[in-house]
Amino acid sequence: ATSSRAGGLERVFRGTFIHSTPDAALQILEDALLGVDSVGKIAFVGKGTELDALTQDFGFSPAEILHLGPHEFFMPGLVDTHIHAPQYSYAGTGLDMPLLEWLKTYTFPAESCFHDLDLARRVYTQVVRRTLKNGTTTACYFATIHTDASLLLCQITDVFGQRGLVGKVCMDRNDSLPRYSETSQESQAETCRFIEELLNKQYPLVKPVVTPRFALSCTGALLGQLGAIAKKNNLHIQSHISENPEEVKLVKELFPEAESYTDVYHRHNLLTDKTVMAHGCYLTDQELDLFHETGAALSHCPNSNISLRSGVLNVRNVLRHKVKLGLGTDVAGGYSSSMLDTMRRTLDVSKILGTLDPDYHSLTMEEVFRLATLGGSQALSMDQQIGNFEVGKDFDALRVNVKVPDGPVDLFQRDQPKVLLEKFLNLGDDWNIVEVFVAGRKVVPFSDPSNLAVQS
Ligand code: GUN
Ligand code: FE
Repeated sequence: ATSSRAGGLERVFRGTFIHSTPDAALQILEDALLGVDSVGKIAFVGKGTELDALTQDFGFSPAEILHLGPHEFFMPGLVDTHIHAPQYSYAGTGLDMPLLEWLKTYTFPAESCFHDLDLARRVYTQVVRRTLKNGTTTACYFATIHTDASLLLCQITDVFGQRGLVGKVCMDRNDSLPRYSETSQESQAETCRFIEELLNKQYPLVKPVVTPRFALSCTGALLGQLGAIAKKNNLHIQSHISENPEEVKLVKELFPEAESYTDVYHRHNLLTDKTVMAHGCYLTDQELDLFHETGAALSHCPNSNISLRSGVLNVRNVLRHKVKLGLGTDVAGGYSSSMLDTMRRTLDVSKILGTLDPDYHSLTMEEVFRLATLGGSQALSMDQQIGNFEVGKDFDALRVNVKVPDGPVDLFQRDQPKVLLEKFLNLGDDWNIVEVFVAGRKVVPFSDPSNLAVQS
């Protein structure tokens, strides 16, 4: 057993734990013991048979140990590396157009309403609750251009106990809906206000992200200012890149001095080891090399890529270039807010690539599981803190039960843990996620909703 003694022991679980490591896409710990300390970190991981020694070490009585059933297991919380919180308001509709028309017709008009804090409170509460129930313990959110509504999303994330990276969206160029844009000065000043006010709140699990919407929404001047803000404060950065052919063509025209779409961001200091860029379907090998060199990550959003007919990401090629990669729902370009859906689409796309090219080595279920957990934590540069059940990391975990009474599908069959995981990944849904923990705190089922009312 390995252990650390950061704080007093709070909880001990005994049962099956399934997670990934950098070396093993799937590691199954049967009859394991896992202790969580008072600050929500994993204090020890050992074998069930080491129970006596471990609990004596920590002065924990065996009666207090929580035993998982034979049809249950723990897995790491899911990491959604790209999701638009305001777009949850129209998720599941309007996927009949390619990206740029879709933005103009649905997205910008919808997002422009989020100056209304009552609307923001309603939608943001729904999206945080829904994604937590779906098992998303960490979400990397785009909000809108509105600073106060973006701060409200941070507050709601904090109240419900989700780990969040939240960005106030920046755009000083919007020909398709001019009233939904800012001047460069506003965008810069409001980004600074957002960061300062959020950091002052000292929410333990919520961090600001510098968020230029994408190259087409920003002038070079604004991109440069945002790069400088991120650098000065050592902040995360998120945006979109190379999602759709029309977008790629327009970026070339708008930034003729840049060598590539990736270079547009790179020359404005927006590619760092804390950057995550969504999509990347049309990146060249050279551009992927630049991602690798800078430590920037990609977020693969297959539901969105299919729904908006944007393109196909060759995940195998991204991995070959050793670019950090996570998965994203990209609500509402992706219609599902569930990372289970994202994993299934990731596997589907990769299997289709395998049928089209016999030399293409399709992803496995195990690899997709790793991308949705450890991969996401790496993409967000949080793999020192979350992503698997290593001692010292925060306990972000899903308690999965494949035998839920009256669940939509009865997944139970007495079999190997790997089969339980496989059944859950392919056929399960939020009914099977019976408890969700973030930093050791049980956040699902929700506590008394009256305690969770978000104050104005
Ligand atoms: N590119 C710029 N904005 C967006 C957005 O909101 N969604 C998606 N999928 N792509 C974008
Ligand atoms: Fe997106």
